[in-house]
Amino acid sequence: MPGTVWDNIYKTYLAGGPAWATLQDDLHPCFVSFIEKSAFPHKHALDIGCGAGKYLKYLQLKGFRTSGLDSSESAVEMTKDLLGDQGKIILADMYEYQYPSNTYDLIISHATLHHGMKKDVVTLLDKIFEALVKDGKIFLSLPSDDCIKNWAMMAKHETLEDGTCIPLCGPEKGLPHSFYAKEEVDRLFSRYVNLETEIDECGRWVIQGEK
Ligand SMILES: C[S@@+](CC[C@H](N)C(=O)[O-])C[C@H]1O[C@@H](n2cnc3c(N)ncnc32)[C@H](O)[C@@H]1O
Repeated sequence: MPGTVWDNIYKTYLAGGPAWATLQDDLHPCFVSFIEKSAFPHKHALDIGCGAGKYLKYLQLKGFRTSGLDSSESAVEMTKDLLGDQGKIILADMYEYQYPSNTYDLIISHATLHHGMKKDVVTLLDKIFEALVKDGKIFLSLPSDDCIKNWAMMAKHETLEDGTCIPLCGPEKGLPHSFYAKEEVDRLFSRYVNLETEIDECGRWVIQGEK
């Protein structure tokens, strides 16, 4: 989907402009320890909003068969450059995509799921649950409601509905972002077992669990 907000962010970066958001971050330290401590009898992983593909690369090195999905054509190209012909890369909108059911042993998504209205995020979380195999695991992040006041990019914003705002300036101008209180996170993920939620240093909820 060329022309999307995020595709423009990647195009600017590839043309020598600044890195934005997680583009040049290392892998999230909670993700690395999650993979290290978890047992995976089977290893088929999906990364929703795979960006430049670094999480997929790590998972491949850990023996996973991988699929990545992103709505940015530039992200898909960067991921293909990084992974070569290893794994499947899907150019699609995460809220619209028809995920295969009962398929993935692990679904991850960092700094991505919140780029829409809350009703779309809820529907996507239902799809994620259906797409996991029994005992399949999640590693997801969602920004906490504190980020509305703490993130510089939200300094100027318009509120669309409770917990969903549009930044009025910066690279993500005009793209809805949804933010989550603890009670919402507990409710949204209540069907998972071995659920662990914690706030990271950027104010995001980091959510780990098992179907
Ligand atoms: C902050 S970046 C995170 C990328 C990667 N997960 C990481 O942590 O490096 C957000 C990613 O979500 C993707 N994205 C945003 N909205 C999307 C949508 N509706 N469908 C699919 N991908 C989307 C963007 O293209 C971008 O790659």
